[in-house]
Amino acid sequence: MKSIVVLVSGSGSNLQAIIDNCNIKYINAEIKCVISNNPGAYALQRANSANIDNIAINHKDYLSRDEFDNELIRILDDLSPDLIVLAGFMRILTEKLTKKFIGKIINIHPSLLPKYPGLNTHQEVIKNRDIIHGVSIHYVTSELDCGPLIAQGEIKTKTFDDINSLVDRIHKIEHLMYPEIIKYICEDKISLNSNQVKFKNIKTKDYIIYNKYEI
Ligand code: GRF
Repeated sequence: MKSIVVLVSGSGSNLQAIIDNCNIKYINAEIKCVISNNPGAYALQRANSANIDNIAINHKDYLSRDEFDNELIRILDDLSPDLIVLAGFMRILTEKLTKKFIGKIINIHPSLLPKYPGLNTHQEVIKNRDIIHGVSIHYVTSELDCGPLIAQGEIKTKTFDDINSLVDRIHKIEHLMYPEIIKYICEDKISLNSNQVKFKNIKTKDYIIYNKYEI
């Protein structure tokens, strides 16, 4: 069985979806540990309730990004997971860390990348009156929100959408897609090879998994 470490900073609804799907064995993996840079993250309470080891390393206790990442690398080396899942982890990782764990770290981002890397994606969608919005799941490289894409999920925006309704609908598809992709990775059906995502027996569209949702 594969082992997973989940990195979080906030509410952890994606973490919860991963926990639930491990519990029902949809994902054949064990969450070894949940790590947060924010000691107050509700995600840590979710880990506690599920009896999952969890660690808070407050980035404010470190003088530099490098020092924080060195500690994170030390912990990750110790845990030696098969997969590191960023689930609302709001820290930019240093190249040292991303290079060390290349092919082992994935992230979920609330936009159809390459549109809107970084923060405030829903605001951008509303401001630009985009007719579609969505989520992207990708391998993590040193460039923020730019690693090789694994999957995207698309929704149509509605005229009455505001930030809350978009957050809500985007979360719904995240909770479906992230567990699905983690399941495939844990079954060795998705991997990263020479910076290219390889799929085994999975239907893709233009080399990524692309789902359209009516939500
Ligand atoms: C999600 O929308 C994810 O795409 C982004 O941060 C949010 C985390 O939400 N990276 P939650 O903490 O999992 O509820």
